[in-house]
Amino acid sequence: MNPKFYLTTPIYYVNSAPHLGTTYCTLAADAIRRYHGMLGQETLLVTGSDEHSQNVERAARKKGLTPFDFSTELSNEFKQQWDKFKVPYRFIRTSDPKHHETVQWLFDRCLKNGYIYPSTYSGQYCVNDELYVNDAEPGDPCPDCGRPTETVSEENYFFKLSAFQDRLLALYENDPGFVQPDYRRNEIVSFVKGGLRDLSISRNNLTWGIPVPVEGNHVFYVWFDALISYLTAVREEKLWPADLHLIGKDILRFHAIYWPAFLMAADLPLPKKIFAHGWILKDSIKMSKSRGNVVRPEPLRQIIGADPLRYFLLREIPFGQDGNFSYDVLITRINADLANGLGNLASRTLTMIRQYRGGTVPASAGSAEIAETARNTITGYREAFENFEFNRALEQVMALITVVDKAIVQYQPWALAKKEHAEPQAQLDEILYSAAEVLRIVTALLAPVMPEACAQLWAQLGMTSNLETLRIDELAWGQLAAGQAIGEVAPVFPRLDAAKIIDQIQVIDDQEADRINLLLGKTEPVAAPWAPPPGVAPLSPEITIDDFVKIDLRVGQVLTAEPVKGADKLLHLTVDLAEEKPRTIVAGIAKAYSPEQLIGRKVVIVANLAPRKLRGIESRGMIVAASLEDTPPVLAAFLEDVPVGARLK
Ligand code: MSP
Repeated sequence: MNPKFYLTTPIYYVNSAPHLGTTYCTLAADAIRRYHGMLGQETLLVTGSDEHSQNVERAARKKGLTPFDFSTELSNEFKQQWDKFKVPYRFIRTSDPKHHETVQWLFDRCLKNGYIYPSTYSGQYCVNDELYVNDAEPGDPCPDCGRPTETVSEENYFFKLSAFQDRLLALYENDPGFVQPDYRRNEIVSFVKGGLRDLSISRNNLTWGIPVPVEGNHVFYVWFDALISYLTAVREEKLWPADLHLIGKDILRFHAIYWPAFLMAADLPLPKKIFAHGWILKDSIKMSKSRGNVVRPEPLRQIIGADPLRYFLLREIPFGQDGNFSYDVLITRINADLANGLGNLASRTLTMIRQYRGGTVPASAGSAEIAETARNTITGYREAFENFEFNRALEQVMALITVVDKAIVQYQPWALAKKEHAEPQAQLDEILYSAAEVLRIVTALLAPVMPEACAQLWAQLGMTSNLETLRIDELAWGQLAAGQAIGEVAPVFPRLDAAKIIDQIQVIDDQEADRINLLLGKTEPVAAPWAPPPGVAPLSPEITIDDFVKIDLRVGQVLTAEPVKGADKLLHLTVDLAEEKPRTIVAGIAKAYSPEQLIGRKVVIVANLAPRKLRGIESRGMIVAASLEDTPPVLAAFLEDVPVGARLK
């Protein structure tokens, strides 16, 4: 086993505060990290903030902040939330210069190896998912999120993704554990088999991003930035490759296809495993800020507690699949498994040891049957946990508790205690030892998932060792020492009263909602709202592509131009539009252009505008020019030559 274990969560976009979906990933990652810590490995969990997205830039501008300042506020929000959940992490921000340097370094390596070339991307782009949507037409929705795509046409740098199809397929085949769960790997395999297109890895004319070390105004495409944060985080101490990238299923393609290809292109080792979990749904749809169905983690943490929440998330939803969140299910699960199950076993067992054995663990080998079940539970738990089947792992722990509960009912320790002969007393020792030993074992097994509650139970059992450094792989029946004095007994999992709890959560949730809305700039803006510079007209109401295509814009060439008598602003033009005969157009540009400047010039004409008469002359079309309020019009023109009659699209 590797002495170190390095895992990551995705780095979260900062146009949203943490919600239960993002919290789910972080808490699961922390449980995995803790488990590996209990295998004796030195662990590192990297998380962070993905800041260079266009959405972040837009949200920042709306709030009147620079994208960097806005990102700082939001990344602090993530850090604070993980601190409150007592998740130890290393945090990486994509705006960190150290990260910029790593991205540029990786780009250079790919470039030198011949995997990068300049070309033009013309097509659709989804800003929400930061995804190039190939094969889509203008106006088509994004296949992933359904939001409208934007049309992009720019000179970009491309990554030769197509060159990696065979190597990627070989990777998935030779190392089936690389992408998990299996059904997700199969999706990736068939996607890659369908063919890979080269990927644009730069965006032109955006300022919020990592500059591409080439001429011009290119910044890196956000995924050729964010993914590399996994490398930046550990580059100095040479901890790469990561043992595990834990992600949500929506970002699997980026991780399972782009990321290994980037690394292969740069001759760098690949991460060992990528696991995609499912979504937390609210009212059966994915939780998201824009849908307004977000469950905030902080009220749950304050009222229910971090550990019960961690337990619920991992116990209730098979890892990999989607799961609906509801308060009822949450409360029922916690009451059944933690208050009645584990909590009850602890208080019963420890109270009986206090009452019948003066507070010290009796000497006994315990019940052979319970010992056998406990051994199987340890093996089964470890197997399930290492397979990411947390719900099954936890289910087995609860089943062991049920076995002990039943045994207590059978042995009737309260009746045995009244009998003074050696045999009932030995039986009493046996059941008390068995119950206490099961309590110790389940506390150890549950520690990665409920670190604080388990540490309390550990102390109540009178254990003085540090639970976090206990070796789960050395855990065995019979290690509880006879004669050990148990500690102070106190309830760890109070029963939750649904009606009360939901009201309390609601109060905190309302406060949180206000605070976060303010942070995201959704209510009273802290700074002055953005306003267009003087003279810049406000944007017209949105139109659809269908509206736009109704306007027929053509390249025309001015053949003649002369002033219109009695109208000092107007010029009378004839323009060739590659039609049967030239058109007459009256244009209000006489103050900006003399007739001589126009003759022979190529211009843009709105060619299907209904004719109208100006000073008695019928004008058939309109010439396109740009101006601020009160500045002279400037005719639209082309830098390259363009044929007369060409349509602008
Ligand atoms: N910034 C990218 C990730 C870059 S990693 C190099 C991103 N950020 S995100 O904030 O939109 O999402 C981060 C993670 O949260 C993703 O793994 C996503 O699947 C997860 N979740 C977001 N909403 C979720 C749920 N409702 N449920 C579970 N996880 C979800 O994508």
